[in-house]
Amino acid sequence: SKEGYPHFMLKEIHEQPFAIGSTLAGINEKEFDNVVNLLLNSRKILIVGAGTSYHAGLVGDYLLTTVLGLDTHAVISSEYKRYVNAVNDNDTVIAISQSGETIDTLVAVRALKERGAKVIAISNVIDSAIPRESNYVLYTRAGPEIGVAATKTFTTQLVIMTILTLRAGIIMGKLDANEYRSIMDSLNKLPGLLQNIITRTEGRVKALSEYMSRRQNAYYLGRGIGVPLSMEGALKLKEIAYIHAEAYPAGESKHGPIALVEEGYPVVFSILDDDNVDPLLGNVMEMKARDAYTIGFVPEKYIGKFKELLNAVLELPNVDYRIAPIIYIVPMQLLAYYTAVARGYDPDKPRNLAKTVTVE
Ligand code: M6R
Repeated sequence: SKEGYPHFMLKEIHEQPFAIGSTLAGINEKEFDNVVNLLLNSRKILIVGAGTSYHAGLVGDYLLTTVLGLDTHAVISSEYKRYVNAVNDNDTVIAISQSGETIDTLVAVRALKERGAKVIAISNVIDSAIPRESNYVLYTRAGPEIGVAATKTFTTQLVIMTILTLRAGIIMGKLDANEYRSIMDSLNKLPGLLQNIITRTEGRVKALSEYMSRRQNAYYLGRGIGVPLSMEGALKLKEIAYIHAEAYPAGESKHGPIALVEEGYPVVFSILDDDNVDPLLGNVMEMKARDAYTIGFVPEKYIGKFKELLNAVLELPNVDYRIAPIIYIVPMQLLAYYTAVARGYDPDKPRNLAKTVTVE
């Protein structure tokens, strides 16, 4: 039941603190250590997934490649053939699928297994097809997700990827004990923090959705780990509000996309990590100079730096960039939700989409 919420999607967005808490509580250290051991002994890691699960894979790719230096590639399930010749029995595949039944991902898993790769499934549905065909399974414990748009399954997938990264990082000596403890501590505090963020931002996001609902297009720009976050934010807006939303690495925006920008064009910037703040400031200036309607998801500590250049600001807490996507996506989900509702659409039943895609 919707438990008093007008839509499942809104209920599921609000359930994220609980879903993350259950996922953290359900972690079996031994299972994780077996998986980490496999990852650390792999020549190469491929992460396969579709849609939102692919975006979780891109965040995972960032964590494993950029933070740990492991040779990792996130691959769109239906494009696995691009990599199949380069895979052998020294390699590991992480298959991310909320439903565990997406045919594109299942087909990729079968083909890569055939090449000798070991498979780790990350899924929300116990004993579904992809977990059944995998060597290892890590479950998210988000509870059933009814809304077609993935929300709580995405944030819990990111929690699993983060914990894998932390445990691998400590063994590899890439993270010291203090850093490990501080990020683990932030993860454990995430349910409370997210609850707070939902309460604090929902009204502002709703006001912003009034503007968004009257537009035909939007860009979502970020750098580093903010790129897959932007892709997921744009997908949400596109799939339920039917607004053409595109994500780009912010640095790419001047290599073509900026040509479309005119007065009032919404551009959503995500500011997450210290290293990318100054280049992003430059990108915001470029958009502002074209009279874009600039929207910033900005950590408290950088509000002063960006405020003058932004038409709308969403203030977020200062958190380690490695877990920031889990937090930042929540107001983006709310933005898509309220924009869809303002445009008169039912966010639970987007046209042309099914919850689980079982045809190739
Ligand atoms: O069940 P899966 O995670 O394998 O589903 C993959 C995609 O079909 C899914 O994430 C889709 O993109 C969502 N509707 C996005 O909100």
